[in-house]
Amino acid sequence: MSIRTYHPRGGRLSGRHHDALDRLHDVYGLAVAELPTPLDLAALFGRTAPVVLEIGFGMGDATAAMAAADPGRDYLVVEVHTPGIANLLSLLERDGLTNVRVAVGDALDLARRCLPEESLDAVHAFFPDPWPKSRHHKRRLIQPTHVALLRSRLRRGGRLHCATDWAPYAKVMLEVLTADPELVNTHDGYAPRPAYRPETKFERRGVRAGRPAIDLIFERR
Ligand SMILES: C[S@@+](CC[C@H](N)C(=O)[O-])C[C@H]1O[C@@H](n2cnc3c(N)ncnc32)[C@H](O)[C@@H]1O
Repeated sequence: MSIRTYHPRGGRLSGRHHDALDRLHDVYGLAVAELPTPLDLAALFGRTAPVVLEIGFGMGDATAAMAAADPGRDYLVVEVHTPGIANLLSLLERDGLTNVRVAVGDALDLARRCLPEESLDAVHAFFPDPWPKSRHHKRRLIQPTHVALLRSRLRRGGRLHCATDWAPYAKVMLEVLTADPELVNTHDGYAPRPAYRPETKFERRGVRAGRPAIDLIFERR
């Protein structure tokens, strides 16, 4: 079995979140383990539009805001953390969003098994777990083999956008992304924060602790 990039963690569900999972999983949700190979993205969203894959959306606030501001693209978003999944489902219902589908499971499994090559317009990995201890670096999402997989799912000209508040990880991200032969940096080094990426609670906490966010935006050749 491959090494996971996440910690299985619990977290209590509020009554509202229980209710959201019960009612809304069948409307917006999909279980990665049960998905076919390949997944028909046009059938999933009911239209043919550019698709963004977001890996690890956390509580989903930024996802809901981005999808609402970007109705011309569809968002396939993936997470393993149940309270976050429930929260995003409730936000999708609250905001009446139709361009988001919530995949429950491992994003790398989803990309490897279900997503055809060149099927994505963008991949977003915002604040992936930094795994700061050296013995855990093997769990990092941004490492050469995972990047090669994700990049292969991007269309030519499609973008891989990462953000982190962990400066040593940003440095490694820059090295790994720059070393990929089919990715080109859209900026000289780090990118300025793009207006389309909403600030999350998680990010504000980092800023208060003296760890501003760093963006990296690469394009597939
Ligand atoms: C540090 S949090 C950041 C959440 C969010 N993007 C934000 O900015 O607040 C990273 C998230 O990625 C999720 N994650 C890590 N590896 C994943 C994987 N392979 N598939 C799906 N989710 C993953 C974790 O469960 C966690 O919720």
